[in-house]
Amino acid sequence: MRFDVVTIFPEYLAVLDVSLLGKARREGLVDVHVHHLRDFTFDRHRTVDDTPYGGGAGMVMKAEPWALALEHVAAASPAPAVGERPVLVVPTPSGRPFTQATARELARREHVSFACGRYEGIDERVFGWAEERFEVRLVSLGDYVLNGGEVAALAMIEAIGRLVPGVVGNPESLVEESHEDGLLEYPVYTKPSVWRDREVPPVLLSGDHGKVAAWRRSQQEERTRDRRPDLWGAFTAPGPDGSER
Ligand code: ADE
Repeated sequence: MRFDVVTIFPEYLAVLDVSLLGKARREGLVDVHVHHLRDFTFDRHRTVDDTPYGGGAGMVMKAEPWALALEHVAAASPAPAVGERPVLVVPTPSGRPFTQATARELARREHVSFACGRYEGIDERVFGWAEERFEVRLVSLGDYVLNGGEVAALAMIEAIGRLVPGVVGNPESLVEESHEDGLLEYPVYTKPSVWRDREVPPVLLSGDHGKVAAWRRSQQEERTRDRRPDLWGAFTAPGPDGSER
């Protein structure tokens, strides 16, 4: 799978060289290309922004450097060979929420690119223009504002990349984690069984797999109800046929 990232801060993406994803890159499971937006400017100051039409605070990223950078990325895409438009993710707090379902869907694609905006954002015309070459998705990491798209792109690349077959050594660990079944993950413990007077829940030492599974499930439900009433509501909502969980 190939990722491309266009940014004015390529150094932000250096951490993609470490840990599991770094290893996956070295093993050729994922291919990451980072592009400097200023390499697609031709003036002395390598200008990427200008004042907003209509007035207001801050600066807006100019359309032309983005078009040139995205043309360059599209030309290198392996996706047309498999008959699909490559995906272009634009991280923005005004996008649709990024969830585990989004990560699963994008992990099945051949090529996912990220357009990391800064300042007040990218000239809106770029997104319509880019539809000719990409499936464009405006995506938000959450209801808060970061300084730019780079940290959001890093988080999304990690969430997507770890779902690519072979990246995580034991694929079973992907099944039993938060959000995979609509519930948060159960609590985990390791040795020693008593640590600073605190004991591991006795059921986990019982050797009874059925009891352990039932306890873990009840913990998942309790946590989800308590910490994430929104997820709990969706989990317990009747199915389309009126059936209940
Ligand atoms: N850029 C700035 N804030 C963001 C957010 N919350 N999600 C995605 N991209 C962003």
